[in-house]
Amino acid sequence: MAIQRTFSILKPDATERNITGAINALIEKAGLRIVAQKRIHMTRGQAETFYAVHKERPFFGELVDFMTSGPVVVQVLEGDNAIAKYRDVMGATDPSKAADGTIRKLHAKSIGENSVHGSDAPETAAIEIAQFFAGNEIVG
Ligand code: CMP
Repeated sequence: MAIQRTFSILKPDATERNITGAINALIEKAGLRIVAQKRIHMTRGQAETFYAVHKERPFFGELVDFMTSGPVVVQVLEGDNAIAKYRDVMGATDPSKAADGTIRKLHAKSIGENSVHGSDAPETAAIEIAQFFAGNEIVG
C-alpha cells in the first residue's frame, strides 16, 4: 500500500479534558506521522460545511453545536494505508462498540462526543484536508 494522507480532528471533548497528547501518542504508536496540526475554534459555517453530508440527519444540529462548543485540533496524518489505519486506531463511531485499545474505547464519552474524526476515503480526505490546510502548512 502506498503512503497516504488522512484528515483528523481531535474534538472538543478531547481538548476540554486535555487529552490531545494522549491521543497523539496512540496515533504515533500506530505508525502514523502528524505532518500538519493546528488548534482552532471552528465557526458554525466551517462545521456546517465540513459535515454537510449529514445535514438531513436528526443529529446534525447537535453535531454542529458540539463541534463549535470549544477548541479542536485539526491534523493531517501520513503513513502507509493511513486512511484505513487511522479508522482502525479510532475504533467504531459508537464507543460502546469500539475495540479494546482504540482511541474511542479508551477516551470517547458517547457516539456524539467521540473524541476524534478521521476521513473515510481518499476523495473525502483530499476535500477535508483542503478545507483546513494550505499545501505549505503540510510538512511530511
Ligand atoms: P464523525 O466521524 O466525526 O462523523 C460524523 C459524526 O456524527 C460522528 O463522528 C459522530 O460524532 C456523529 N454522530 C453519528 N451518529 C450520531 C448520533 N446518533 N448522535 C449524535 N452524533 C452522532
